[in-house]
Amino acid sequence: NSLGDTIPVVFHVLYNNQQQNISDLQILSQLDVLNEDFNRRNPDASNTPAAFLNVAGNPQVYFCLASLDPEGKPTNGITRTQTNQASFEYTENKMKFTAQGGRDAWDRNLYLNIWICNLTNNILGFAQFPGGPAATDGVTLLYRAVGRTPLNPFPGPYNRGRTGTHEVGHWLGLRHIWGEADNSCTDSDLIEDTPNQDGKSSGCPVFPRISCNNGPNGDMFMNYMDYTNDACMNLFTLGQVDRMNAVLHTSRTALLQ
Ligand code: ARG
Ligand code: ZN
Repeated sequence: NSLGDTIPVVFHVLYNNQQQNISDLQILSQLDVLNEDFNRRNPDASNTPAAFLNVAGNPQVYFCLASLDPEGKPTNGITRTQTNQASFEYTENKMKFTAQGGRDAWDRNLYLNIWICNLTNNILGFAQFPGGPAATDGVTLLYRAVGRTPLNPFPGPYNRGRTGTHEVGHWLGLRHIWGEADNSCTDSDLIEDTPNQDGKSSGCPVFPRISCNNGPNGDMFMNYMDYTNDACMNLFTLGQVDRMNAVLHTSRTALLQ
């Protein structure tokens, strides 16, 4: 395990109207959430059920805004691009190409690229797993799901920045905690210390919620890699931390400063 790795981040804001052109402060609050959640300094860590504290992990990863752009010029780590795309389809990756109404990625060996835009189909965000093409590497977030209230001004259960935490988890190699098939106890997230869980959770379940004979503690629905509300998520496990560190020190090692 490596202590205190820091990843430089560039946020690319793509806006078709002023509501989508979210504030620097909303973006900075996303960075704060990432730094809390990836260092187990999130105030709601105290909500992790006692039964899961023995597997709660601290990734010890820090995120900072990029201070130099790819040409070596000073930057605040935020690019802003007006687009004539009213929204983007997550299967198309157009937000990642200047020629398609988006903004080209900065070198993925130097930056974590996070695109912020309007997404179709009620998608909150998506990420590219390690090992994919350079031009599309990074995380994309719906503008309404970036950062946390009150700097995120949008109502609803996804305004505490946990979409960013979840997607960066994918970008560092984590799968959904229930395994990819819904209503299946035979698939897995390939992590030892997350309980076997039949399908995705939503809302804010009451502990314990049993599935797949995983009693007495049941599903780890408060894990960042489930689909519960932002306010109800509060941990990564030790096994997930090992996976993320392995990715950081193999396929993403060039990023570390
Ligand atoms: N990829 C997921 C989606 O768009 C993200 C879920 C994030 N969950 C959250 N509570 N913020 O549905
Ligand atoms: Zn996901």
